Amino acid sequence: MPISIRPLHPGFAGEVAGIDCREPLDPAQVAAIEAGMDRYAVLVFHDQPLSDEQQIAFTRQFGALESYPTPGNIRRSQEQRLGPGIADFSNLDKHGNILSGEDRLWFFKLGDRLWHSDSSFRPVPAKYSLLSGRIIPSWGADTEFADMRAAYDALDPRTKAEIEGLVCEHSLIYSRAAIGFTDLTPEEIAAFKPVRQTLVRSHPVTGRRSLFLASHAGAIVGWTVPEARMFLHELTEHATQREFVHRHKWRVGDLVMWDNRQTMHRGRRFDRNEVRDVRRTTLAGDAPVPAKAGIEQAA
Ligand SMILES: [Fe+2]
Repeated sequence: MPISIRPLHPGFAGEVAGIDCREPLDPAQVAAIEAGMDRYAVLVFHDQPLSDEQQIAFTRQFGALESYPTPGNIRRSQEQRLGPGIADFSNLDKHGNILSGEDRLWFFKLGDRLWHSDSSFRPVPAKYSLLSGRIIPSWGADTEFADMRAAYDALDPRTKAEIEGLVCEHSLIYSRAAIGFTDLTPEEIAAFKPVRQTLVRSHPVTGRRSLFLASHAGAIVGWTVPEARMFLHELTEHATQREFVHRHKWRVGDLVMWDNRQTMHRGRRFDRNEVRDVRRTTLAGDAPVPAKAGIEQAA
């Protein structure tokens, strides 16, 4: 059966049929999914009961996995739960028990409910993320996606001109501080040293421009912090208006793939006394964004 993609939102987010993600893809299938990603930026695959190994194998057909060391203090309580190549976005510790609401790992996870683009705080931000729903709570826990291309297109000409060439500083420190979580270790602060990203990106295949925003962005180079934060807040408010947002309601066995270069996303609330087990594989981007724009990282 050939792959088909049904749009879920005008020009944004598609539902894929005619594929078993557990099986190796042929080149035409890979090309069809990549073309779907270029067009829709978010793809949903239902009824894909993947093992970790199958999820990793599926992901690797679209590029190299992202690989960054995580500071030990953050992941210590669950470092053994999953093997290499796949990240644990559950609310479980390494023994499979629900995390305490006072666990600092839980505080880190809460920050993912702010709008963000995965790994925008890394020198080379992520290309695709693939999230597999293994156990889904009975209420809430939706993931929302915002189309940052449509958001860019809808800006007025003056704002488009103003943001051209602007460079933001991204760090997990900013996004965690936004929810009042500032109790970071020296090791974490060193690991989360801000990186610079251009505020406008162009897609390498389609050339479409998009806003590259995230709650990790906490400064604009050359601006005062209050003015930068206020402007980033306003741009985020603009970019996450309902017309640009697709909400995914999870079913067990869903695999959702999104392009971090063209979208932002956020997790929504759920009852943390219920288990949510979702696992993410992530594809590396291909070069630092500022390097492509001819902008130096901070020393
Ligand atoms: Fe995320």
